[in-house]
Amino acid sequence: MNQLGGKVLLPFRYRKKEIVLKALFLAGGMGTRLRPLTDHLPKPMVPVMGIPLLERSIDELKRCGVNEVILSTCYESDCISQHFSTGEKSQMKIHCICEKEPLGTGGAIKNCQKYFDDTFLIFNSDILCNIDLKALVQFHREKHSDVTIAAAEVKNPSSYGVIEHMPDGKILSFTEKPKPGEEKSHDINAGIYVFEPRVLDMIPAGKSVSVERDTFPLLLKNGFRMNVYRIGGYWIDIGTPEKYMKAHKDIFNGACTVHENDFRSAKVYGADNADIASSAKITGPVWLGKNIHIGENAVIGPNAVLGDGFQAGQGCEVRNSVIWNGVTLGNGVNIDHSVVTSDCSLASGICCENTIYSSDSKLPFA
Ligand code: GDD
Ligand code: MG
Repeated sequence: MNQLGGKVLLPFRYRKKEIVLKALFLAGGMGTRLRPLTDHLPKPMVPVMGIPLLERSIDELKRCGVNEVILSTCYESDCISQHFSTGEKSQMKIHCICEKEPLGTGGAIKNCQKYFDDTFLIFNSDILCNIDLKALVQFHREKHSDVTIAAAEVKNPSSYGVIEHMPDGKILSFTEKPKPGEEKSHDINAGIYVFEPRVLDMIPAGKSVSVERDTFPLLLKNGFRMNVYRIGGYWIDIGTPEKYMKAHKDIFNGACTVHENDFRSAKVYGADNADIASSAKITGPVWLGKNIHIGENAVIGPNAVLGDGFQAGQGCEVRNSVIWNGVTLGNGVNIDHSVVTSDCSLASGICCENTIYSSDSKLPFA
């Protein structure tokens, strides 16, 4: 309130800078390590608790005030562009850019340069996390950073980009995917950045560039101000089947919070228009999609995700597993610690444990 008792309104430009930033999603990778889940689906569209991960991330940004995003795609681009083609109706302006050839993470950022004339956000599209984005942007501004990189602390940093930094955040070095035992820090690049547009002039156009291996070290060498912002909350890269399963486990146990559900008290969510036999036993935490049918004496849960249109015959059991949309189980099918991808049919009596079950393959978890 001001002295006259009225509300103090911040100048529009300031308010705009505080809240409305554009965001770029790097969504063009092949998702090789997540196969077979990515055989017919780009990694950003893999469902997490029934919602494609990229849709989750965009919705989260919407809640923070972001209203324009750029999706940089390549592999299975049409799947992404078609899914988000109704974006303008949902009050989010969404541009989908498709690379003919993969440009790498840095090349993909450069390729979208025309969209950015102010501070902007960049996200890898395979990250599920609970991060305070406003605090990240505020930190970036207070430090007068050219690039701020969100960092997560992990036990085994060798499969990530390791960042050595001062206690105040000033970055000293980058080592992308160091050999085990040669890591200089446990703080890793979490795949979330705040960029000033001027740094884009340091990325060569029209060629494949890695932002992690080429651009970040080059910026550091040339004296750009680069800082890390440590994420306090949950963070995971869902890029392997094991981590994909762990993400679900962590949502169920409350380590990771999602906007729409809180599973900490073993709840059962969803089940719009469900047809569940009265003798079936459902033990939370469980997430149930739309239009599902569960037969007599079935046992569902705990820790089960059943996608839309799921059909289970009599006596089926599903625990600790993620079932995508349109899956049908014959009588007596038993599924534990497995992922079953869309539209699979499992014949009566099949037992599926520690398996990634898709229409093309049945692979054990590593
Ligand atoms: N448009 C476009 N073009 N996107 C790409 C390309 C490309 O050529 N290559 C990769 N991407 C996208 C992927 O879709 C993904 O969202 C993101 O860039 C990162 O690629 P990943 O393949 O997932 O990289 P990573 O997990 O091995 O390593 C990256 O993420 C780690 C955190 O999870 C690096 O940024 C590491 O430094 C970081 O620690
Ligand atoms: Mg990744």
